[in-house]
Amino acid sequence: MSRTGINAGQVDPAGTEPGPADARVFDALTRGDDNISADREVASRLEAADPRVYWWAVAHWHFRRQAMIALADAGFRQWIDLGCGLPNAASAYDLLATDPALGGGRLVCVDNDPIVITHLQHRPPPATGLHVAAVLGDLRDPDQVMADIVRLDVVDLGEPVAVLLTAVLHHLDDPAAGRLLAVLRDYVVAGSVLVVSHPSSPPLISPPLRAAAAHYQRATGAHWTLRAISTAPDLLGPWWIPHPPGITPVGRWHPASADPNPGDDQDPPELEALRAAPGWAVLAAACSPPQATNDAASVPAEHYATSDIRP
Ligand SMILES: C[S@@+](CC[C@H](N)C(=O)[O-])C[C@H]1O[C@@H](n2cnc3c(N)ncnc32)[C@H](O)[C@@H]1O
Repeated sequence: MSRTGINAGQVDPAGTEPGPADARVFDALTRGDDNISADREVASRLEAADPRVYWWAVAHWHFRRQAMIALADAGFRQWIDLGCGLPNAASAYDLLATDPALGGGRLVCVDNDPIVITHLQHRPPPATGLHVAAVLGDLRDPDQVMADIVRLDVVDLGEPVAVLLTAVLHHLDDPAAGRLLAVLRDYVVAGSVLVVSHPSSPPLISPPLRAAAAHYQRATGAHWTLRAISTAPDLLGPWWIPHPPGITPVGRWHPASADPNPGDDQDPPELEALRAAPGWAVLAAACSPPQATNDAASVPAEHYATSDIRP
């Protein structure tokens, strides 16, 4: 049965089974429990086409975890997770809800998939004293999303906040992504940080992987713009990129103070797949006044070869 065009929360017009949804496919891809056979079918097609896809997804989690620990060490206690995905062992929610080292704090989760929000709302109270709220929202309407966050009154936008945008900006086209980043910058105070990871197209994409990726997009109805690392400085617009290591391949990001070889606990081929994940990551800062545009030097030259084909 074709599931073309069936989206999150929709029902198969020919029956009663829900179709695959982006959040659940990502959960299936990363060995989570909150998915159904339609999601697993999409995920397994991708992995059958290229087993490295699992590590490419894990690279985003690995980056986010390292970035959050670094920011918590720097004193951040307020988080907004946009396009948060399902809560699971590696999610930002679970990290903050279970790891006392991150200090509990305050978290608002936003996603446009009602299943994600329902799951978050039914989690047991966090052991860390984390104060958390989850709200349905579409990042293509950033003014509404931010108005809802203000109304929830969980994070204090008069104080610095870390805004997580991991593995989600590719679901927005260029105008929507630009609008979101500009609205976010308007709402947060100087000292706030944007935590971004973004998938790119692999430099060499096999026909089976291309077919499996096209199936993913058709089946979930998700928009994808796989932006190259070279586009990141422009895309980030009003956000400034001050922190070494700048914009890096997502599997190679590390905090300035820590291990520059992420994933050392993995076996070498897996580590290689994680480090070579097609995508990029960055911590960008809200400065006052907003900086002039970032330039290409924000992407260290050595990183072009690994995950980008320079125009
Ligand atoms: C690939 S998952 C990433 C989840 C999580 N950020 C992570 O890094 O594990 C993308 C998530 O973005 C959500 N999403 C996609 N488009 C969105 C939109 N326009 N507004 C809000 N959420 C969106 C999906 O429902 C899904 O949960």
